[in-house]
Amino acid sequence: MKTSSLIRGIMQCTLLSAALMFASQNASSQTPAPAWGQAQYFKYNIENVLVNKTAIAGQWNVKVVFSVTDPTTGLAWNIWEALPYQSVGAGLTIDIGWDSTEFSNTGSVNSQLTSVTTTVLGTGAAMPVQLRNLNNNREPLAKPPTPGKAKPCLTTAQCPDPAPSLGNRFYVEQLVTPVTFGQTVAKGRVGMEGHPVCNGLSGCPSAIAPFANIPVRSATADFAFLDTGTPTVTKVADPRRPVVDFETKCKTCHNDKSLDRNGLPIPRLSLHGGNRNENLKLCVMCHNPNQTDVPYRTSGPETPLDFKTMIHSIHSAGFREQPFIVIGFGASINDFSDIRFPATLSNCLNCHVQLPGGKGTFELPLASSVLGTTVKTGSTYAVPAGGLRTISVDPADDLKITPTAATCSGCHDKAEVRSHMIKTGGASFSTLQQNIGVTVKERCASCHGPGKEKDVSRVHEISSKEGFYH
Ligand code: HEC
Ligand code: HEC
Ligand code: HEC
Ligand code: HEC
Ligand code: HEC
Repeated sequence: MKTSSLIRGIMQCTLLSAALMFASQNASSQTPAPAWGQAQYFKYNIENVLVNKTAIAGQWNVKVVFSVTDPTTGLAWNIWEALPYQSVGAGLTIDIGWDSTEFSNTGSVNSQLTSVTTTVLGTGAAMPVQLRNLNNNREPLAKPPTPGKAKPCLTTAQCPDPAPSLGNRFYVEQLVTPVTFGQTVAKGRVGMEGHPVCNGLSGCPSAIAPFANIPVRSATADFAFLDTGTPTVTKVADPRRPVVDFETKCKTCHNDKSLDRNGLPIPRLSLHGGNRNENLKLCVMCHNPNQTDVPYRTSGPETPLDFKTMIHSIHSAGFREQPFIVIGFGASINDFSDIRFPATLSNCLNCHVQLPGGKGTFELPLASSVLGTTVKTGSTYAVPAGGLRTISVDPADDLKITPTAATCSGCHDKAEVRSHMIKTGGASFSTLQQNIGVTVKERCASCHGPGKEKDVSRVHEISSKEGFYH
């Protein structure tokens, strides 16, 4: 595992720095290991979100006020001057996605859901709106705000209630056109990700490029799409159902200290070249039911990236029959087959939380809002290098696995169990979302629901563990 994970990391870092490069760099030089020690000097703050409807039907303007502070001094970094953000390889991105209760980001590319035709790799089917490179993508002070470019906060009218002061606070605005898929879009989420590099700080492993990435914990904030014509402050509490917990569950393994089955430390959760770190509320904005690995795929069937399928599949390699392979950034091949879960895989409580009252979030039935998992976006991607790809951003034509089967089959991937799910359970591995719950109805909970004959908690022998009761 270690070898392949190292190769994965190297491929990604090299390609990532190549893509973000402003100065020329020796292609064979490797980015040093992530500088976790310096992450304590950076904190991402989404201080405010304001929205207003525009004159165009279905369109909102979303304004995000943000800052990067140093918790050790309480001061805010000037991201347009400070070396960690102005050195080769640094980045800062704001993501805007919806609906926060079940992300699909439908309409993020265009409100007509017209396919994207392109010869380059990298377009996803259900990505949030991404405002990248805000540490460099700035607007001269004199100019009016341009969508997608950062501006400094100069007045409290521009940036209401930034705590504790206006100094080194920034804002960015973007027009978005959320389209309903499954449920009406009421709430959205802003993510803040990207990383500074270790330059000009004490203890940096390298004083020349390539610098070490500093994996700052990503931030998120939820907001409501208010029916208002004037920009209105709209931050709200996270409306999404709790399922797993990073701090108390994932981090008991992903902490650079706990050992895997080969006696090697399990890395802290830092993905995508050090840009997306230790915050699952950010991951699920993209790792949503409609996302596959189509961005960099040029052959073979798409792999679902939906968290409820992907995270099960990654950790259950010792139990699965089929390898779980994701084509990642820059067309890297990420084969998770040799991961061995260093705990009892059937103990769902290694990752899942219990709700007040005792119900485990791994139990059935799923909430009716939970979408099926896309396995085929309807895109044309198997084309020769440089050929025309057509990425379908309309989820209505996606072929999906019904949601419960998508969840259980992340681990239980045997052909005969799949056929049980279809024949006995009413599941489908290739249907449209519009059919799910209408003509295609899952019946899993009638046998695997709480208290039923094959209760999920009982078959996984959980009832006796960690105070779990039924
Ligand atoms: C019992 C320990 C354990 C728990 C709990 C755990 N993981 Fe893991 N996870 C692992 C191991 C071991 C690997 C393989 C890492 C390696 O050796 O490179 C892994 C790999 C991963 C990977 C792939 C990493 C990569 O570099 O490509 C992701 C993503 C991941 N885990 C996410 C999670 C999330 C999210 C949770 C909580 C919901 C979680 N893990 C809980 C042990 C665990
Ligand atoms: C802005 C969207 C976005 C966010 C945020 C995001 N991902 Fe991804 N992720 C993707 C896409 C798209 C792919 C498929 C490869 C590609 O196109 O880059 C992917 C691939 C992956 C893979 C498989 C390939 C690889 O690179 O190892 C893992 C594991 C992964 N993501 C884990 C995570 C975790 C964990 C988080 C949160 C800490 C996260 N991702 C946040 C979009 C995102
Ligand atoms: C390695 C971590 C991990 C383990 C172990 C794990 N799960 Fe999960 N599970 C996840 C993640 C991550 C999600 C998606 C979280 C999200 O959407 O916020 C998920 C989602 C689910 C869901 C969907 C819940 C919802 O409301 O959408 C069910 C059901 C589920 N898991 C069942 C199980 C069962 C049953 C087991 C034990 C046999 C299990 N899981 C073990 C990580 C894990
Ligand atoms: C994280 C991986 C994981 C997930 C997700 C998961 N299971 Fe399991 N399941 C296991 C493991 C491991 C076993 C134990 C198999 C063994 O001991 O041979 C198991 C056993 C079972 C058994 C008993 C089968 C037997 O032969 O004894 C049933 C029934 C079952 N699971 C149903 C489900 C259902 C329904 C879901 C979805 C709600 C689900 N599982 C999700 C890993 C998982
Ligand atoms: C009529 C009752 C019934 C329904 C409905 C049903 N199951 Fe099962 N399921 C069972 C029985 C019985 C077993 C065998 C359990 C055992 O061996 O202990 C089983 C076993 C399983 C297993 C474990 C298989 C193995 O051997 O590893 C999974 C996973 C599973 N079911 C998922 C589902 C899913 C997903 C659905 C809905 C799409 C579903 N089941 C619907 C009764 C049912």
